[in-house]
Amino acid sequence: MNGAAPRIDWIARRSGPLRGEIGVPGDKSVSHRAIMLAALADGTSRIDGFLEGEDTRATAAIFAAMGVRIGQPAPGTRLVHGVGIDGLAAPAGVFDCGNSGTGMRLLAGLLAGQDFDSTLTGDASLRQRPMQRVTGPLARMGARIEAQQGGLPPLRIRGHTGLNGIDYTPPVASAQVKSALLLAGLRAKGETCIREPRPTRDYTERMLAAFGWPIRFEPGVARLEGGHRLRATEVVVPADFSSAAFFIVAASLVPGSRLLLRGVGLNPRRTGLLDALRLMGADIRAHDRHESGGERVADLEVRHAPLRGIDVPEALVPDMIDEFPILFIAAAAAEGVTRIRGAAELRVKESDRIAMMARGLARLGIFVRELPDGADIHGGVLGGGEVDSAGDHRIAMSFAVAGALAGAPLRIGDCANVATSFPGFVALAQAAGIALASLSRPGA
Ligand code: S3P
Repeated sequence: MNGAAPRIDWIARRSGPLRGEIGVPGDKSVSHRAIMLAALADGTSRIDGFLEGEDTRATAAIFAAMGVRIGQPAPGTRLVHGVGIDGLAAPAGVFDCGNSGTGMRLLAGLLAGQDFDSTLTGDASLRQRPMQRVTGPLARMGARIEAQQGGLPPLRIRGHTGLNGIDYTPPVASAQVKSALLLAGLRAKGETCIREPRPTRDYTERMLAAFGWPIRFEPGVARLEGGHRLRATEVVVPADFSSAAFFIVAASLVPGSRLLLRGVGLNPRRTGLLDALRLMGADIRAHDRHESGGERVADLEVRHAPLRGIDVPEALVPDMIDEFPILFIAAAAAEGVTRIRGAAELRVKESDRIAMMARGLARLGIFVRELPDGADIHGGVLGGGEVDSAGDHRIAMSFAVAGALAGAPLRIGDCANVATSFPGFVALAQAAGIALASLSRPGA
């Protein structure tokens, strides 16, 4: 958590059914990329559905500091006056990416080929996250980036306009790594080709195409050449599936629930949780399927259904990489054992999500066997008590859902970072029927 922010704890209590219709905020991944490409485009782009979260606002502020005028005619809308692919201005100070790994990694790629120096830093959590996965291949493209010991931020990026394209297969499936290298490739000589061990979310590729950059991509491979230009366009950001996920699981678990989530983005590289929950017996139906801004979108109707444990197919892992904290809760409330494997990446997210979920669930009386790359979660009866979110937004929201089922009140510590991805979560949870209250304590 950011040292300066007030500490916020939550209390969640056993809740009645979730009912009605809700809309969750805009997609974080899409919002970051929309600001970045609009800033580098020729002309003025309009972004609707922009996530007003701390992470995405930090990215917008960084581009404003490089001379990009960004208007906000209404909440969730941005008018970005692009400066063109060569038009960013040297910043006066250090860039603060806050809690955002996406912001920092994508910016590292984008800034590596600029003709000015820059420095990227972030909060205490981000300063512990591995950056070698982007600085390593960027160095092979010719970038000059200094990290701290262990490849950690802050990153000092030396201005350098002589990057070369790369043909690269990252050792881990990561949309952030792929995107960083593609963004570096925009200003590199020749072709940049990224081949993935497993396909990851393709928003960078789709959005580059929407802004008029010639790019070829299919699941698992993306290639582009440097030396083109981006054309301003309109971006409509869908509701974030990862934010919807907390309500999808809550409505599945709380008896009597029937909840409709409006306009949820259903990019297939994001919806692995739907497949996993359906294997567990969930009742989730999609209505009004359509395309919006080039993305699949639908209303999701979720009804309560008893869940049973499964072996989560490893092929689903990248498609649900942000949904494991809430899957742990679904598994804890399911009958039988849920086994997760091949998910070691969870240990280097905003927190070590395997350790934090195992520790928190143990406090609620659930047996979890922790493994280096996953866990066995033994479904049981959730008790109340006190858990720590370690300043990890998704862990905080996952335990709020656990509290809706718990036999006694559940206090969740260190929840302020929920504002990074889901401003208004507490109010929306209350509106949907979750008995959740926020307590703020002065000082952290
Ligand atoms: C993201 C990619 C994922 C995800 C993160 C957002 C993105 O990270 O966990 O929340 O916007 O590209 P990795 O690519 O590191 O798996």
